[in-house]
Amino acid sequence: MASIAEEIKRRRTFAIISHPDAGKTTLTEKFLLYGGAIQLAGSVKGKKTAKHAVSDWMEIEKQRGISVTSSVLQFQYEGYCINILDTPGHQDFSEDTYRTLMAADSAVMVIDASKGVENQTRKLFKVCTMRNIPIFTFINKMDREARNPYDLLEEIEQELGIDTYPVNWPIGSGRDFKGVFDRKSQQIVAFTANNGQREVEATALTLDAPDLKDRLGEELYQTLQDDVELIEGAGADFDQSRIDSGKLTPVFFGSALTNFGVEPFLEDFLRMTTSPLPRKADIGEIDPFSEDFSAFVFKIQANMNKAHRDRIAFMRICSGKFEKGMDVLHVQGEKKMKLSQPQQMMAQEREIVDEAYAGDIIGVFDPGIFSIGDTVCSPSAKMQFEGIPTFAPEHFAIVEQKDTLKRKQFIKGTSQIAQEGAIQIFQELDSGGMERVIVGVVGVLQFEVLEYRLKNEYNVEIRQQGLPYQFIRWIANKDLDPKSLNLTSDTKRIQDLKGNNLLLFSNSWGIQWALDHNPTLELQEFSKN
Ligand code: G4P
Repeated sequence: MASIAEEIKRRRTFAIISHPDAGKTTLTEKFLLYGGAIQLAGSVKGKKTAKHAVSDWMEIEKQRGISVTSSVLQFQYEGYCINILDTPGHQDFSEDTYRTLMAADSAVMVIDASKGVENQTRKLFKVCTMRNIPIFTFINKMDREARNPYDLLEEIEQELGIDTYPVNWPIGSGRDFKGVFDRKSQQIVAFTANNGQREVEATALTLDAPDLKDRLGEELYQTLQDDVELIEGAGADFDQSRIDSGKLTPVFFGSALTNFGVEPFLEDFLRMTTSPLPRKADIGEIDPFSEDFSAFVFKIQANMNKAHRDRIAFMRICSGKFEKGMDVLHVQGEKKMKLSQPQQMMAQEREIVDEAYAGDIIGVFDPGIFSIGDTVCSPSAKMQFEGIPTFAPEHFAIVEQKDTLKRKQFIKGTSQIAQEGAIQIFQELDSGGMERVIVGVVGVLQFEVLEYRLKNEYNVEIRQQGLPYQFIRWIANKDLDPKSLNLTSDTKRIQDLKGNNLLLFSNSWGIQWALDHNPTLELQEFSKN
């Protein structure tokens, strides 16, 4: 039997971030394939098939064939126990996506080689840097026409502000893609399109192999010689400590679809990334290897089973070992309890877990007591983790119930859905009631989710009216009366449920105006609870 420390040490918990269509799903599938967790690639998320294997939980997901909420996949690979936190893409991008990153110890950033850094990657990257976690880059789709690798690296460095260390270097792209030069082994791994099968007979050649010029052709051969000289001479040195602190990203070129470079990437990544990291709490940093169990709630998912209006609270275990039936303390609720029906996603199956370790994610039945950011720990070692920040929503609407007699249900519904963290609700200053609220969301799909859920779960029909605001900022000065502020006429003063004051702006110019005309005003992009 492995000791608790050994179990924790072999855990790798990470999220994959990318812009939609860069290849995150394909890469995840290939990872699962190597771990033996799935037999056939192509079943993680059936976009075009009827299978929605992973998060088939909400009716709306089925109707639209997309995943609204993020899920967690666990599998084993070469002695490692891997937890992949899946982050949804497309317009279903939501607060969940940001929060999932709070549960990760590192991130894999997938970039489409023909497109480079895209919008959603940029947003998610910001959250990763806020936490200084290691970030690994997989530049995908090299089997298609790609941008110049130097330009891609420069874009990552310039736009994201992180240094790059190419672990391998591509030879051509698209129809001319010949493979990569691996810097560590100083060998060329030749690309053979193999229809996505796992077993590839990788041909490794050294730079001075006599038949190399014939294989690559004169032009690619010369380019490769020049590139190798250049990257070995210039560029950042490999520095594990800078990788650990998120200052340097190892970059891998490959092609997830054709399975080229995926397994070497997985192996290098698992070796270079970190086992569970310590977390900040009120009593100082919590060591993951401590005997005492601790976890925090990073996501709440409602109605996985329509017959019972239940919720599942997802927790990231931060230290020690969890055992089914053990007593824990829910710190915010000030209550000792047993976590009921603890579940874990093992590849595609949801299973009851008997034990889990720091680094793992468990989902527990939540009768409505947990909130995002709550701490659960051993009763004998009481502590409280730092809260999860509330991220700035980007879309806003006025929401009111159609039938004023349904006021109670409307308040209950919107408040509960907000408590789960799917939406944020605000009130206009001096509005004096909750007949109508301002709803803010990170992804527009949440408006639909809200309407659907209020109707189906709370029997309330609503009217929504989009608002033209684009930016929201929390007022950091707690003692500042928002009414005393000098603002443009299209800036709105609002309050969140905790009584924090905020400002809504129609454009970035309004933010600058407010700062220029109110010298003491301090604005924040996210709020620490
Ligand atoms: P996402 O999760 O990041 O949104 O991307 P996903 O893996 O779904 O990939 C988006 C599209 O890009 C898919 O094609 C996928 O097959 C393709 N793709 C992924 N990796 C590679 C690669 O290395 N090379 C090439 N050429 N294509 C790649 P699709 O036509 O949109 O979907 P499908 O019909 O293949 O499911």
